Amino acid sequence: MMLRKSIFTLLVLSSTAMSHAAASFDPATVLRQLTDEEKVALLVGVSSNGCNASGDVGRLEKNAMGAAGATHAVPRLGVPSIILADGPAGLRINPTRKGENRTYYCTGFPVGIHLASTFNPQVVRKVGAAMGNEVLEYGVDVLLAPGVNIQRNPLCGRNFEYYSEDPVAAGLTAAAFIEGVQSQGVGTSLKHFAVNSQEVNRLANDAIVSERALHEIYLRNFEIAVRKAGPWTIMTSYNYINGTHATECKWMLEDLLRGQWGFEGAVMTDWGGGYRMASAVAAGNDMIQPGADKYYNEILDALHDGTLSRQDLDRSVLRVLELVARSPKARGYVPGNNPDMASHAQVALEAAQEGIVLLKRNALPLASSGKIALFAVGSYDFIAGGTGSGDVHRPYVVNLQDGLKKAGFSMDEGVDAFYSEYMKEERSRTDVINKSLPWYVPHERALEACPAGVIKASAQTSSAAIVTFSRISGEGKDRIEGMDFELDGREIQLLKTVSEEFHACGKKVVVVLNICGAVQTASWRDMADDILVCWLPGQEGGTAVADVVSGRVNPSGRLPISFPMKYTDDPSSSDFPQIIPDKPFNYSHYRNFRDGRIRRDIKDIDYTEYKEDIFVGYRYYVTRDVEVAYPFGYGQSYTTFAWDGFSVKKSDDGAFVAKIKVTNTGECSGKDVVQLYVKAPSSSLEMPARELKGYAKTPLLAPGESAEMEIDVPEEYIAYYDPQRHGWITPKGKYTFIAARDAVTIVRKCTVCM
Ligand code: GLC
Repeated sequence: MMLRKSIFTLLVLSSTAMSHAAASFDPATVLRQLTDEEKVALLVGVSSNGCNASGDVGRLEKNAMGAAGATHAVPRLGVPSIILADGPAGLRINPTRKGENRTYYCTGFPVGIHLASTFNPQVVRKVGAAMGNEVLEYGVDVLLAPGVNIQRNPLCGRNFEYYSEDPVAAGLTAAAFIEGVQSQGVGTSLKHFAVNSQEVNRLANDAIVSERALHEIYLRNFEIAVRKAGPWTIMTSYNYINGTHATECKWMLEDLLRGQWGFEGAVMTDWGGGYRMASAVAAGNDMIQPGADKYYNEILDALHDGTLSRQDLDRSVLRVLELVARSPKARGYVPGNNPDMASHAQVALEAAQEGIVLLKRNALPLASSGKIALFAVGSYDFIAGGTGSGDVHRPYVVNLQDGLKKAGFSMDEGVDAFYSEYMKEERSRTDVINKSLPWYVPHERALEACPAGVIKASAQTSSAAIVTFSRISGEGKDRIEGMDFELDGREIQLLKTVSEEFHACGKKVVVVLNICGAVQTASWRDMADDILVCWLPGQEGGTAVADVVSGRVNPSGRLPISFPMKYTDDPSSSDFPQIIPDKPFNYSHYRNFRDGRIRRDIKDIDYTEYKEDIFVGYRYYVTRDVEVAYPFGYGQSYTTFAWDGFSVKKSDDGAFVAKIKVTNTGECSGKDVVQLYVKAPSSSLEMPARELKGYAKTPLLAPGESAEMEIDVPEEYIAYYDPQRHGWITPKGKYTFIAARDAVTIVRKCTVCM
């Protein structure tokens, strides 16, 4: 055993010398020259703290850099170590390094759900390219993003990182992101493959999902991204899928991912994911991250006792070598460590503007000549992103007050004076529970912070009020209905008082939702004249919201998820864990065995049954005619648009080409989104009322200007998955193509007979 460990240690130690002397190499040639020990080390990453399990110092650069992981080098054969770092909203590395008097901040871009809300692949691609440039210039090789999992339930703690409840919206957004990042010559890791829909007991939860729902909902998003954008890597999920751990799902990793979808990259575990590493390698999960001696020894033993075939080992080693060979390190790229942060900030701002969703409009935009009474701590402490590996060490965050002042608005003196004092106290609070936990409600003392007298006086002196409600969430924790989905009683009381006082003076009230996922709106929205959703909009969030408030930007975002009237309307709410922790702690390891055993004791924790099947989100609400507060795809504009000339034709390659003309019929420039749904003919299986098959966003149209929009739908998107035949079927019959503003607002229809 000592020999094996010492070899592993030797590889790690020598990799330090290698990291900047990279030279290209030929993977197949190197494979033939590797020893067994070198091969296994390539499949087991550098351990999580940069050392291997025996404590020897590993890659100092990785440690200093604060990246998530690294691969081992093989110095004698010119194979460099490559570095892997998070995440979906920006590169995640340490902002400072020991002994250096400079910083390494990374741009904080809008989070995943915000990017999806743009319904604009061009904007998402631009974000990816800017983020990819920081990955390249800071010396990282693979960005551990995007997270493309389906938002099955409104309370999943990682929904902010993910894109949508719909697999086409999620897959197309992920594809654009991957194209952008990889255009910089660095890799991505499409994650978490697959069915990663809750954080409670994430390392051991068994997702029990029907074959049809698995293919139509939870794998289709990955399929679209893999086929369209070719991510360099895939990251498997922590959970089990119908009793098999994701890392050991050979049918998924080999037959489906590579055999059917044509994936040619490498597959890695999530950090600490999986239990039986030799089985994982045999199933096509090529790399174990982070590394540890026990994984190295387990795989080496399995190779020597024959439980892991040399063919399977070599197949995974070759994939890892091919991944390394395409990396900036192997190409000898010397990072400049000085990316253009100013231009990237502009990209972050444009994406933040593009993804803001206008839910209700009566007063907006506001004239900057008037004074704004800005209420709630959230207005002064804007949340730019979520917590966990999806967080970013960003250089700054523009809060809403800063943004409004920059946009030329003046603040109501009384309210401003009060909050500037109050925020000093709020920020100095040591009693506040860890802000990274979803139930931290930064503004819950806002009512105390703003006595009725101040509100009353400001209603006289201001032209409008803005109230910000904030919600944060993060990896390792799910949200709680009462604390996160519902607004806090004090929040409602604050809005009620502001609404009564300002409406009594004929003034307007705008609510800004700075949130990580859907919240309850039905019970309070009548108290607000206007409602904006700005999700977690990145470092330029306050600027972007102020640009929309002032009318400098016409909002064009659309909801990529449904907002139910109440949480229990959601079809998965009866099959989702609701654990109210008695103290701030990370309960993702809630009942994890860490030895591969699956418990079947506690519903929704040990195992979760996806009883809603394919009827996730709008597929459920529209098909079952359940009213929602705001439907999937919803979003208003400051202008109006007319749609004409809708047609759908089948092209020679089998794709459906939908065309429609969009005209700006309003008073100001704006962008519109055409959503294309299809209602399939009835079959032996229940079909949803309609399903999104594509969308297109217009360029900025001036009043009176038109654009001819085209939406191409690959033929395979129309098929449904038949579990009897274990395959996709496109039955003959009448397919209704629907041009819609959202999942419930149909504008044009036409039928195509197949
Ligand atoms: C995490 C996350 C994954 C992340 C990885 C590395 O636990 O699940 O998304 O990329 O570890 O930080």
